[in-house]
Amino acid sequence: MSVTVRRMRTQDAEAVLRIDEKITGRPHEAQWEARIIDHVTGNPLGCLVAEADGKIVGFILGEIRGWEFAIPKSGWIEIVGVDPEFQGRGVAKALIEKLNVYFQNHNVEKVRLMVNWNDGGLVSFFRAVGFERSEFIILEKGVETPE
Ligand SMILES: CC(C)(COP(=O)(O)OP(=O)(O)OC[C@H]1O[C@@H](n2cnc3c(N)ncnc32)[C@H](O)[C@@H]1OP(=O)(O)O)[C@@H](O)C(=O)NCCC(=O)NCCS
Repeated sequence: MSVTVRRMRTQDAEAVLRIDEKITGRPHEAQWEARIIDHVTGNPLGCLVAEADGKIVGFILGEIRGWEFAIPKSGWIEIVGVDPEFQGRGVAKALIEKLNVYFQNHNVEKVRLMVNWNDGGLVSFFRAVGFERSEFIILEKGVETPE
């Protein structure tokens, strides 16, 4: 299978959401299409799709940001997804490699992302492509309803 990676276009949002639905088994939320379009419009170089035989089979949304949480300028992977029928064939790896070119061109030294520690499959995948546990952690607390 030959995979090509190209920049995402706003009109790819539907195909991206279709893959997301196949992964999660749930219909997508109404606001997600607008969020993809915002990403592509605001950050065109960080949004990529992978195609096999002209069909979109994977996507990645990445961006460069820093300052918040006192984290230095970093490349962030917001979400990556591969059509379940095309997983295990190097699609995500190709997407991450292409996104890395964008990060390298902008002098980014580290790529970061957030993942659920209990999602062993995803953690193993990111380890397989070179990611390690970060020194940053997430703190959380319930939002209490005022009495
Ligand atoms: C995780 C995911 C992106 C991997 O995509 P993929 O195209 O199947 O991955 P690749 O074929 O490019 O695999 C790259 C490497 O990771 C390894 N890998 C892939 N999935 C793995 C897993 N679940 N556990 C361990 N290693 C894994 C592969 O063996 C390969 O290693 P190699 O380079 O040594 O051969 C895909 O399974 C997916 O879309 N999962 C659901 C996505 C999701 O939950 N996204 C939200 C979080 S951002």
